[in-house]
Amino acid sequence: MSDYYYELKNLFDLEELKKIALPYITEEWKQTDDFMGLISFTDKTLIKVADHDYLLQFQQRFPRLGNTLRILKNSNKSWPVHLDVNRLVSINIPIMNTGEGKITRFYEGGTQVNEWYGNFGIIKDSFQSNEYQTYVQDATPVLDYVLDKNPAIINTTKPHSVYNQHANPTDPNPRFIMAWGYTGTYEEAVEVLGNGTR
Ligand SMILES: [Fe+2]
Repeated sequence: MSDYYYELKNLFDLEELKKIALPYITEEWKQTDDFMGLISFTDKTLIKVADHDYLLQFQQRFPRLGNTLRILKNSNKSWPVHLDVNRLVSINIPIMNTGEGKITRFYEGGTQVNEWYGNFGIIKDSFQSNEYQTYVQDATPVLDYVLDKNPAIINTTKPHSVYNQHANPTDPNPRFIMAWGYTGTYEEAVEVLGNGTR
């Protein structure tokens, strides 16, 4: 088993999950840069499990799945290396334009910092660690993962970043994924959700 990710091959019906996410994804969101996309759309577009019977049945079966899901857009070249705050695990669900060249990069080591300077998408600036992420400096890349045909359990206690090999300033096909939190460790999530797939 990988320490970094675990693909859930037969647990969810991906088409049902896409049906839930797609109505939220607007043309305006597609054309927003990645950083502003997080602030203007992701954080304001929480999908409530309680509103969707399809999600609710999984939460009833696996009570450690979170109450909300978030949609994330990525079309710019790179996002900083970080650790997720307040969760150890994310279930990442491919929604649109995933696949080749759209990479989740895992790292080892490095130092957690309050402030990080560099490129977050197209914006070059100082970024403060915040309620969603703690930035990590000088970590060593160890593994690239491409989310595509299956949802995957992501170990968000490992430093990770997003890298888009096909990025250009006006990418007409941004990657969209949906992230579902899970209260528990990566190992527990793999044990519990992984068994659900057999
Ligand atoms: Fe993350």
